[in-house]
Amino acid sequence: MSLHMSALANAHLPDEQTSAFARDVVVGLSDQPKRLSPKYFYDAAGSELFEQITRLPEYYPTRTELGILRDRGADIAAIIPEKAALIEFGAGATTKVRLLLQSCTFSAYVPVDISGEFLNAQAEALRQDFPALTVHPVTADFTTSFKLPDAIKDLPKVGFFPGSTIGNFEPHEAYRFLRSAREILGVGALMIVGVDLEKDERVLHAAYNDAAGVTARFNLNLLVRANRELGGNFDVSAFVHRAIYNREQHRIEMHLIAKKPQTVRLLGTSLHFRAGESIHTENSYKYSIERFAALARSSSWTVRSVWTDAAKMFSVQALVAEA
Ligand code: AVI
Repeated sequence: MSLHMSALANAHLPDEQTSAFARDVVVGLSDQPKRLSPKYFYDAAGSELFEQITRLPEYYPTRTELGILRDRGADIAAIIPEKAALIEFGAGATTKVRLLLQSCTFSAYVPVDISGEFLNAQAEALRQDFPALTVHPVTADFTTSFKLPDAIKDLPKVGFFPGSTIGNFEPHEAYRFLRSAREILGVGALMIVGVDLEKDERVLHAAYNDAAGVTARFNLNLLVRANRELGGNFDVSAFVHRAIYNREQHRIEMHLIAKKPQTVRLLGTSLHFRAGESIHTENSYKYSIERFAALARSSSWTVRSVWTDAAKMFSVQALVAEA
Protein backbone atom coordinates (compact mmCIF):
# COMPACT_ATOMS: atom_id res chain seq x y z
CA MET A 1 0.00 0.00 0.00
CA SER A 2 1.39 3.47 -0.90
CA LEU A 3 1.97 6.07 1.80
CA HIS A 4 -1.01 8.05 0.49
CA MET A 5 -3.34 5.05 0.56
CA SER A 6 -2.35 4.02 4.09
CA ALA A 7 -3.15 7.57 5.33
CA LEU A 8 -6.54 7.10 3.71
CA ALA A 9 -7.13 3.77 5.45
CA ASN A 10 -6.70 5.54 8.82
CA ALA A 11 -9.03 8.42 7.97
CA HIS A 12 -12.45 8.42 9.63
CA LEU A 13 -14.94 9.40 6.97
CA PRO A 14 -18.70 9.69 7.56
CA ASP A 15 -20.08 7.58 4.69
CA GLU A 16 -19.27 5.46 1.62
CA GLN A 17 -19.75 8.41 -0.76
CA THR A 18 -17.18 10.53 1.08
CA SER A 19 -14.78 7.56 1.23
CA ALA A 20 -15.08 7.12 -2.56
CA PHE A 21 -14.45 10.86 -3.04
CA ALA A 22 -11.39 10.62 -0.72
CA ARG A 23 -10.01 7.64 -2.64
CA ASP A 24 -10.49 9.32 -6.02
CA VAL A 25 -8.97 12.62 -4.86
CA VAL A 26 -5.87 10.97 -3.35
CA VAL A 27 -5.36 8.62 -6.32
CA GLY A 28 -6.13 11.30 -8.95
CA LEU A 29 -3.88 13.95 -7.39
CA SER A 30 -1.01 11.47 -6.95
CA ASP A 31 -1.21 10.58 -10.66
CA GLN A 32 0.78 12.25 -13.46
CA PRO A 33 -0.82 14.29 -14.97
CA LYS A 34 -3.07 15.05 -11.99
CA ARG A 35 -6.81 14.52 -12.50
CA LEU A 36 -10.17 14.67 -10.70
CA SER A 37 -13.45 13.20 -11.95
CA PRO A 38 -16.16 15.63 -13.15
CA LYS A 39 -18.74 13.55 -11.28
CA TYR A 40 -17.62 15.39 -8.10
CA PHE A 41 -18.69 18.79 -9.46
CA TYR A 42 -22.28 18.22 -8.40
CA ASP A 43 -22.54 18.81 -4.64
CA ALA A 44 -25.28 21.31 -3.62
CA ALA A 45 -23.11 24.36 -4.45
CA GLY A 46 -21.85 22.81 -7.72
CA SER A 47 -25.37 21.88 -8.85
CA GLU A 48 -26.50 25.46 -8.20
CA LEU A 49 -23.49 26.81 -10.16
CA PHE A 50 -24.33 24.44 -13.02
CA GLU A 51 -27.91 25.78 -13.06
CA GLN A 52 -26.40 29.28 -13.39
CA ILE A 53 -24.15 28.07 -16.24
CA THR A 54 -27.19 26.83 -18.17
CA ARG A 55 -28.56 30.39 -18.15
CA LEU A 56 -25.33 32.16 -19.23
CA PRO A 57 -25.47 34.00 -22.57
CA GLU A 58 -22.32 32.18 -23.78
CA TYR A 59 -23.47 28.66 -22.75
CA TYR A 60 -25.57 27.68 -25.78
CA PRO A 61 -26.21 23.90 -25.15
CA THR A 62 -29.14 23.99 -22.70
CA ARG A 63 -31.05 26.76 -24.43
CA THR A 64 -30.47 25.23 -27.88
CA GLU A 65 -31.53 21.73 -26.81
CA LEU A 66 -34.69 23.11 -25.18
CA GLY A 67 -35.46 24.95 -28.43
CA ILE A 68 -35.11 21.72 -30.44
CA LEU A 69 -37.32 19.75 -28.02
CA ARG A 70 -39.93 22.50 -28.22
CA ASP A 71 -39.82 23.12 -32.00
CA ARG A 72 -39.55 19.47 -33.06
CA GLY A 73 -42.04 18.10 -30.51
CA ALA A 74 -44.48 16.93 -33.22
CA ASP A 75 -41.70 15.11 -35.17
CA ILE A 76 -40.53 13.39 -32.00
CA ALA A 77 -44.13 12.45 -31.08
CA ALA A 78 -44.58 10.86 -34.52
CA ILE A 79 -41.99 8.12 -33.80
CA ILE A 80 -43.05 7.32 -30.20
CA PRO A 81 -45.03 4.05 -29.99
CA GLU A 82 -48.39 4.07 -28.24
CA LYS A 83 -48.46 3.58 -24.44
CA ALA A 84 -44.67 3.72 -24.22
CA ALA A 85 -42.66 4.09 -21.01
CA LEU A 86 -40.09 6.90 -20.91
CA ILE A 87 -36.90 6.01 -19.00
CA GLU A 88 -34.67 8.96 -18.16
CA PHE A 89 -31.01 8.21 -17.45
CA GLY A 90 -30.08 10.67 -14.67
CA ALA A 91 -32.86 12.99 -13.65
CA GLY A 92 -31.88 16.60 -12.97
CA ALA A 93 -34.17 19.56 -13.51
CA THR A 94 -37.43 18.37 -15.09
CA THR A 95 -37.60 21.18 -17.69
CA LYS A 96 -36.57 18.93 -20.61
CA VAL A 97 -38.70 15.93 -19.76
CA ARG A 98 -41.71 18.21 -19.27
CA LEU A 99 -41.33 19.38 -22.88
CA LEU A 100 -41.34 15.75 -24.07
CA LEU A 101 -44.31 14.86 -21.88
CA GLN A 102 -46.23 17.83 -23.29
CA SER A 103 -45.65 16.92 -26.94
CA CYS A 104 -45.72 13.09 -26.73
CA THR A 105 -48.09 10.69 -24.99
CA PHE A 106 -46.36 8.31 -22.58
CA SER A 107 -48.13 6.03 -20.15
CA ALA A 108 -45.24 5.74 -17.67
CA TYR A 109 -42.14 7.69 -16.69
CA VAL A 110 -39.12 6.09 -14.97
CA PRO A 111 -36.53 8.62 -13.80
CA VAL A 112 -33.28 6.88 -12.74
CA ASP A 113 -30.87 8.72 -10.48
CA ILE A 114 -28.40 8.08 -7.68
CA SER A 115 -30.03 10.71 -5.42
CA GLY A 116 -33.26 9.12 -4.17
CA GLU A 117 -34.47 12.08 -2.16
CA PHE A 118 -34.26 14.52 -5.06
CA LEU A 119 -35.80 11.94 -7.39
CA ASN A 120 -38.86 11.40 -5.21
CA ALA A 121 -39.51 15.15 -4.93
CA GLN A 122 -39.33 15.53 -8.73
CA ALA A 123 -41.54 12.47 -9.24
CA GLU A 124 -44.23 13.88 -6.95
CA ALA A 125 -44.30 17.19 -8.85
CA LEU A 126 -44.69 15.35 -12.19
CA ARG A 127 -47.52 13.16 -10.83
CA GLN A 128 -49.41 16.33 -9.90
CA ASP A 129 -48.89 17.96 -13.30
CA PHE A 130 -49.42 14.84 -15.48
CA PRO A 131 -52.17 12.87 -13.66
CA ALA A 132 -52.50 10.28 -16.48
CA LEU A 133 -48.83 9.34 -16.14
CA THR A 134 -47.62 6.65 -13.74
CA VAL A 135 -44.21 7.59 -12.31
CA HIS A 136 -41.80 4.91 -11.03
CA PRO A 137 -38.54 6.43 -9.75
CA VAL A 138 -35.53 4.09 -9.59
CA THR A 139 -32.63 4.97 -7.29
CA ALA A 140 -29.53 3.66 -9.07
CA ASP A 141 -26.29 4.70 -10.73
CA PHE A 142 -27.54 4.90 -14.33
CA THR A 143 -24.06 4.18 -15.74
CA THR A 144 -24.25 0.65 -14.31
CA SER A 145 -26.84 -2.05 -14.88
CA PHE A 146 -30.15 -1.65 -13.01
CA LYS A 147 -33.53 -3.32 -13.13
CA LEU A 148 -36.58 -1.62 -14.62
CA PRO A 149 -39.80 -1.72 -12.55
CA ASP A 150 -42.03 -4.75 -13.28
CA ALA A 151 -44.95 -2.36 -13.90
CA ILE A 152 -43.47 -1.31 -17.27
CA LYS A 153 -42.21 -4.70 -18.43
CA ASP A 154 -44.80 -5.10 -21.21
CA LEU A 155 -44.64 -1.48 -22.46
CA PRO A 156 -42.54 -0.25 -25.41
CA LYS A 157 -39.44 1.49 -24.01
CA VAL A 158 -38.02 4.92 -24.89
CA GLY A 159 -34.78 6.01 -23.19
CA PHE A 160 -34.02 9.71 -22.65
CA PHE A 161 -30.50 11.04 -22.08
CA PRO A 162 -30.49 14.80 -22.70
CA GLY A 163 -27.95 17.56 -21.99
CA SER A 164 -25.02 16.05 -23.92
CA THR A 165 -24.00 14.36 -20.69
CA ILE A 166 -22.79 11.64 -23.06
CA GLY A 167 -20.11 14.17 -24.09
CA ASN A 168 -18.63 14.05 -20.58
CA PHE A 169 -17.92 10.33 -21.02
CA GLU A 170 -14.66 9.15 -22.56
CA PRO A 171 -15.45 7.45 -25.90
CA HIS A 172 -15.03 3.97 -24.32
CA GLU A 173 -17.38 4.99 -21.48
CA ALA A 174 -19.95 6.32 -23.97
CA TYR A 175 -19.73 2.97 -25.80
CA ARG A 176 -20.18 1.06 -22.50
CA PHE A 177 -23.11 3.27 -21.49
CA LEU A 178 -24.91 2.75 -24.83
CA ARG A 179 -24.33 -1.03 -24.67
CA SER A 180 -25.68 -1.17 -21.14
CA ALA A 181 -28.71 1.03 -22.03
CA ARG A 182 -29.50 -1.34 -24.91
CA GLU A 183 -29.38 -4.34 -22.53
CA ILE A 184 -31.69 -2.57 -20.06
CA LEU A 185 -34.19 -1.23 -22.62
CA GLY A 186 -34.17 -4.25 -24.96
CA VAL A 187 -34.08 -4.75 -28.72
CA GLY A 188 -36.40 -2.41 -30.63
CA ALA A 189 -36.33 0.26 -27.92
CA LEU A 190 -35.80 3.91 -28.83
CA MET A 191 -33.33 6.27 -27.20
CA ILE A 192 -33.59 10.06 -27.43
CA VAL A 193 -30.19 11.56 -26.74
CA GLY A 194 -28.82 15.12 -26.70
CA VAL A 195 -25.46 15.41 -28.47
CA ASP A 196 -23.41 18.60 -28.66
CA LEU A 197 -21.87 19.22 -32.08
CA GLU A 198 -18.47 20.40 -33.29
CA LYS A 199 -18.43 24.07 -34.16
CA ASP A 200 -16.35 27.24 -34.37
CA GLU A 201 -13.74 27.00 -31.61
CA ARG A 202 -14.39 30.60 -30.52
CA VAL A 203 -17.98 29.70 -29.66
CA LEU A 204 -16.80 26.69 -27.66
CA HIS A 205 -14.09 28.70 -25.92
CA ALA A 206 -16.57 31.38 -24.84
CA ALA A 207 -19.09 28.78 -23.59
CA TYR A 208 -16.53 27.32 -21.16
CA ASN A 209 -14.76 30.61 -20.26
CA ASP A 210 -17.77 32.84 -19.56
CA ALA A 211 -17.20 36.50 -18.83
CA ALA A 212 -18.98 36.36 -15.45
CA GLY A 213 -16.62 33.62 -14.22
CA VAL A 214 -19.38 31.16 -13.25
CA THR A 215 -17.65 28.21 -14.99
CA ALA A 216 -14.45 29.12 -13.14
CA ARG A 217 -16.30 29.00 -9.80
CA PHE A 218 -17.91 25.68 -10.83
CA ASN A 219 -14.46 24.20 -11.57
CA LEU A 220 -12.79 25.65 -8.43
CA ASN A 221 -15.68 24.33 -6.32
CA LEU A 222 -13.99 20.90 -6.54
CA LEU A 223 -11.23 22.26 -4.28
CA VAL A 224 -13.76 23.93 -1.95
CA ARG A 225 -15.52 20.56 -1.68
CA ALA A 226 -12.25 18.70 -0.99
CA ASN A 227 -11.48 21.21 1.80
CA ARG A 228 -14.93 20.85 3.37
CA GLU A 229 -15.49 17.11 3.03
CA LEU A 230 -11.92 15.81 3.34
CA GLY A 231 -10.40 18.44 5.65
CA GLY A 232 -8.00 19.68 2.95
CA ASN A 233 -6.24 23.05 3.05
CA PHE A 234 -6.30 24.05 -0.62
CA ASP A 235 -5.78 27.80 -1.07
CA VAL A 236 -8.48 28.12 -3.74
CA SER A 237 -7.13 31.53 -4.80
CA ALA A 238 -3.81 29.87 -5.71
CA PHE A 239 -5.48 28.00 -8.64
CA VAL A 240 -7.03 29.30 -11.86
CA HIS A 241 -9.66 27.82 -14.17
CA ARG A 242 -8.58 27.03 -17.74
CA ALA A 243 -10.76 25.60 -20.53
CA ILE A 244 -9.20 24.84 -23.91
CA TYR A 245 -10.41 23.11 -27.07
CA ASN A 246 -8.35 20.02 -27.97
CA ARG A 247 -8.84 19.80 -31.73
CA GLU A 248 -7.29 16.34 -32.21
CA GLN A 249 -9.53 14.81 -29.52
CA HIS A 250 -12.61 16.92 -30.43
CA ARG A 251 -13.11 17.99 -26.82
CA ILE A 252 -13.16 20.93 -24.45
CA GLU A 253 -10.80 20.20 -21.56
CA MET A 254 -11.20 21.88 -18.20
CA HIS A 255 -8.19 22.25 -15.94
CA LEU A 256 -7.30 23.87 -12.62
CA ILE A 257 -3.82 25.38 -12.86
CA ALA A 258 -1.57 25.97 -9.82
CA LYS A 259 -0.43 29.61 -9.90
CA LYS A 260 2.69 28.86 -7.81
CA PRO A 261 4.52 25.88 -6.31
CA GLN A 262 2.58 24.66 -3.29
CA THR A 263 1.96 21.77 -0.93
CA VAL A 264 -1.56 20.89 0.14
CA ARG A 265 -2.38 18.77 3.21
CA LEU A 266 -5.37 16.48 2.93
CA LEU A 267 -6.27 13.37 4.98
CA GLY A 268 -2.85 13.18 6.58
CA THR A 269 -1.01 13.25 3.27
CA SER A 270 0.95 15.98 1.40
CA LEU A 271 0.24 16.74 -2.25
CA HIS A 272 2.79 18.79 -4.16
CA PHE A 273 2.06 21.11 -7.08
CA ARG A 274 4.59 22.75 -9.41
CA ALA A 275 3.90 26.29 -10.66
CA GLY A 276 1.71 25.89 -13.77
CA GLU A 277 0.85 22.26 -12.98
CA SER A 278 -2.65 21.21 -14.03
CA ILE A 279 -5.41 19.14 -12.48
CA HIS A 280 -7.46 17.86 -15.43
CA THR A 281 -11.08 18.00 -14.24
CA GLU A 282 -13.37 17.46 -17.24
CA ASN A 283 -13.64 16.58 -20.91
CA SER A 284 -16.66 17.65 -22.93
CA TYR A 285 -16.58 15.82 -26.29
CA LYS A 286 -18.14 17.44 -29.34
CA TYR A 287 -19.34 15.10 -32.08
CA SER A 288 -19.93 15.39 -35.79
CA ILE A 289 -23.18 13.72 -36.92
CA GLU A 290 -21.05 11.03 -38.63
CA ARG A 291 -18.81 10.30 -35.63
CA PHE A 292 -21.81 9.97 -33.32
CA ALA A 293 -23.53 7.62 -35.80
CA ALA A 294 -20.38 5.46 -35.82
CA LEU A 295 -20.31 5.37 -31.99
CA ALA A 296 -24.02 4.40 -31.94
CA ARG A 297 -23.48 1.69 -34.58
CA SER A 298 -20.52 0.21 -32.70
CA SER A 299 -22.71 -0.16 -29.60
CA SER A 300 -25.66 -1.77 -31.49
CA TRP A 301 -27.87 1.28 -32.00
CA THR A 302 -28.87 2.83 -35.34
CA VAL A 303 -29.60 6.51 -35.75
CA ARG A 304 -33.21 6.89 -36.84
CA SER A 305 -33.60 10.70 -36.78
CA VAL A 306 -31.40 13.73 -36.12
CA TRP A 307 -32.97 17.07 -35.21
CA THR A 308 -30.80 20.19 -34.94
CA ASP A 309 -31.26 23.93 -34.53
CA ALA A 310 -30.87 26.05 -37.69
CA ALA A 311 -27.21 26.86 -36.91
CA LYS A 312 -26.39 23.16 -36.24
CA MET A 313 -25.01 23.91 -32.79
CA PHE A 314 -26.67 20.99 -31.01
CA SER A 315 -28.55 17.82 -31.93
CA VAL A 316 -31.31 15.69 -30.46
CA GLN A 317 -31.08 12.21 -31.96
CA ALA A 318 -33.40 9.20 -31.91
CA LEU A 319 -31.61 5.82 -31.89
CA VAL A 320 -33.12 2.35 -32.32
CA ALA A 321 -31.72 -0.68 -30.41
CA GLU A 322 -30.61 -3.35 -32.85
CA ALA A 323 -30.56 -7.12 -32.23
C1 AVI B 1 -23.13 18.52 -17.95
N1 AVI B 1 -22.27 18.76 -19.09
C2 AVI B 1 -22.92 18.36 -20.34
C3 AVI B 1 -21.67 20.10 -19.14
C4 AVI B 1 -20.80 20.27 -20.42
O1 AVI B 1 -21.04 21.25 -21.14
O2 AVI B 1 -19.95 19.43 -20.68
C5 AVI B 1 -20.82 20.39 -17.91
C6 AVI B 1 -20.14 21.72 -17.96
N2 AVI B 1 -18.87 21.93 -17.74
C7 AVI B 1 -18.61 23.22 -17.87
N3 AVI B 1 -19.69 23.84 -18.22
C8 AVI B 1 -20.70 22.93 -18.26
